[in-house]
Amino acid sequence: MPDPTSDFAAFLHAYPSFSNTQLIDDLRASQYARLDAGEHVYLDYTGGGIYAESQLRQHQQLLRENVFGNPHSSNPTSLAATHFLEHARAYVLKFFNADPQEYDVIFTNNASGALKLVGESYPFAKGGHYLLTFDNHNSVNGIREFAHARGAEVTYIPVALPDMRVDTASLDAYLAHATAGAHNLFAYPAQSNFSSVIHPLDWIERAHAAGWDVLLDAAAFVPTSRLNLNHVKPDFVPLSFYKMFGYPTGIGALIARREALSKLRRPWFAGGTITVASVQGDKYYLADGHTAFEDGTPDYLNIPAVEIGLKHLESIGYDNIGERVHCLTGWLLDNLPKMKHSTGEPLVRVYGPTTAEKRGGAVTVNFFNKEGQAIDHRYIESEANKSNISLRTGCFCNPGAGEIALGISRVELDVCFTRPDHEQRLSLDDFRLCIDGKNSGAVRISVGLMTNFNDVQAFLSFARGLLA
Ligand SMILES: Cc1ncc(COP(=O)(O)O)c(C=O)c1O
Repeated sequence: MPDPTSDFAAFLHAYPSFSNTQLIDDLRASQYARLDAGEHVYLDYTGGGIYAESQLRQHQQLLRENVFGNPHSSNPTSLAATHFLEHARAYVLKFFNADPQEYDVIFTNNASGALKLVGESYPFAKGGHYLLTFDNHNSVNGIREFAHARGAEVTYIPVALPDMRVDTASLDAYLAHATAGAHNLFAYPAQSNFSSVIHPLDWIERAHAAGWDVLLDAAAFVPTSRLNLNHVKPDFVPLSFYKMFGYPTGIGALIARREALSKLRRPWFAGGTITVASVQGDKYYLADGHTAFEDGTPDYLNIPAVEIGLKHLESIGYDNIGERVHCLTGWLLDNLPKMKHSTGEPLVRVYGPTTAEKRGGAVTVNFFNKEGQAIDHRYIESEANKSNISLRTGCFCNPGAGEIALGISRVELDVCFTRPDHEQRLSLDDFRLCIDGKNSGAVRISVGLMTNFNDVQAFLSFARGLLA
């Protein structure tokens, strides 16, 4: 039985800077006590963040002390709502150090809503191009359907095992394929939600120089890393606020360069998006900037809580958050691969970088038995559940990274997708059978804002319990 005290000493010895993040342990005790009261081992921060009690208190106080009406008017309660809504919008820009002359913020339901706004409105056309990495969330992959429908070319850039990064030299070759005079969009995640690789932000200017508009998916990056829009200038940045600070859910944003925004062509108009629309005249005029993209009534009671959440993150500081995530991820990566069965077979295989450099806090693995056969990720989740450990299994909506990590080939997929019985419908179980017993998913453990050493130790101890 490992000695928890000496483990902590060994951890501090390996990661002395962890001690500088004591503030987070103190906050966990005062603002997140429910985690420990409920003996939760929460390790799904890439799935969703956890909120502090103070966020709820401040938001409720705001709601208790004010009367808010629908903002699309100029009566007193409407103006009160507009005030907080616009304050939050300005605060989002301030938080990301974005110049309001250059960037605008569109509130959406989540990152996927922001991505759909770009996909449906980007002027894809024959001769144009949609370039994206294999490593992308499905809501970025989904944009390819708009590109296909309008005759633009779609190209995927592979990531390479074992680290699951893009080969930088090959990136330039792909970027060279922008069509002059056409609309070309390049999309990649600042941080992978599968391997947690942090892809370089200097790709943005390289892509701009080569004639691409750039969509930087920041959803998995900004919960633990600073994005400074004064230093890097992506055209479109989708994100979800619940991933950053847990509350509220249901609100995301598309932060967009005003110039890029003016390129977008909305496929429809809706309440709130127009200056004038006529029935008899069959004509409408879209409003300027973000107004043209926020359909209907915005979530005016919850959007003010975004500002509260951003201030909460600022009060902790990305330096502290990043340091803590770095130390805890490093410890996981130091210990998990060392675990071996009595036969010498390793317990896990890590997909992605095996050091804590240039990566975030998600560690994605599969478990293997003492004969070296893969253990079904669903079994691992059900066992983890018994220890009140919240982790995530499957492909995390990132099939491109999953296919590369799990060695599922194009040929296998083609065989599977062209079977007559799979023309219209394919359930996940059908898919598993089809790829012939190969792993169709993995196990993701992700540390974040409030993770402490005990959480990570609890997971390591769970993993040790699977050794045979
Ligand atoms: C990298 C990345 N992009 C986009 C999304 C989509 O976010 P949402 O489900 O909040 O729309 C996620 C969600 O996990 C993500 O990790």
